[in-house]
Amino acid sequence: MDIYMMKGALFVHMVEFAQRELGETTVEREMLRLNLESGAAYTSVGMYPFSEFERLHHAFAEAMQITADDFSRRFGCRTLPLLVAGHAIPPDMHPFDFLEKVHGVIHQDVRKLYKDSNPPSVQVVERQGEQRLVLRYESQRPMAAFCGGMLEATMDTFGCGDIYRIERIDAEPRTERFAEFVVDLVT
Ligand code: HEM
Repeated sequence: MDIYMMKGALFVHMVEFAQRELGETTVEREMLRLNLESGAAYTSVGMYPFSEFERLHHAFAEAMQITADDFSRRFGCRTLPLLVAGHAIPPDMHPFDFLEKVHGVIHQDVRKLYKDSNPPSVQVVERQGEQRLVLRYESQRPMAAFCGGMLEATMDTFGCGDIYRIERIDAEPRTERFAEFVVDLVT
């Protein structure tokens, strides 16, 4: 498996997110300016170099005048509901039960469906009922901030954003290829 190649799904979502935030003309201009090897006509089933993902990510964050981490987090917040909408997931499910399914079911299905895909490990490593959960992210790609945004949006999508607090708890110095997040019920 070539970790330097990445499935087009997240490219398509990132370009759509940037178009919403910056407008189509600016996005088009940024993509032309980068003179991308692939020609930038992304499809969700295509495979593209991760270096291209990083260049686009950097250019869009700069054009939005926000940090790369902030861009990743907001991009994750925007993407999660779109991914959930494509699956038959009951809306009254508790978000912790949904998070328990990401590793063994959802990302597993992605791996089976697209043999060349490479979703990260996103695993629940600790859970106390509906009170507290610890989620661990491990990947070959440095996308911990994106994972944090996906987690935030999970709690919102299942209607629980107001009653839970999320904190990143892995020890410093941190790498973006690994993260642990705790989600606590605020009483
Ligand atoms: C219905 C729900 C979900 C679907 C369909 C889904 C699907 C996917 C797909 C198709 C990819 C791209 C794989 C690749 O490029 O090889 C991906 C990547 C990713 N997913 Fe999920 N996912 C879901 C839920 C979640 C949740 C709840 C989280 C975290 C809270 C998460 C975290 C991530 C991260 C961080 C990445 C990309 C970062 C990396 O490669 O390290 N996903 N997912």
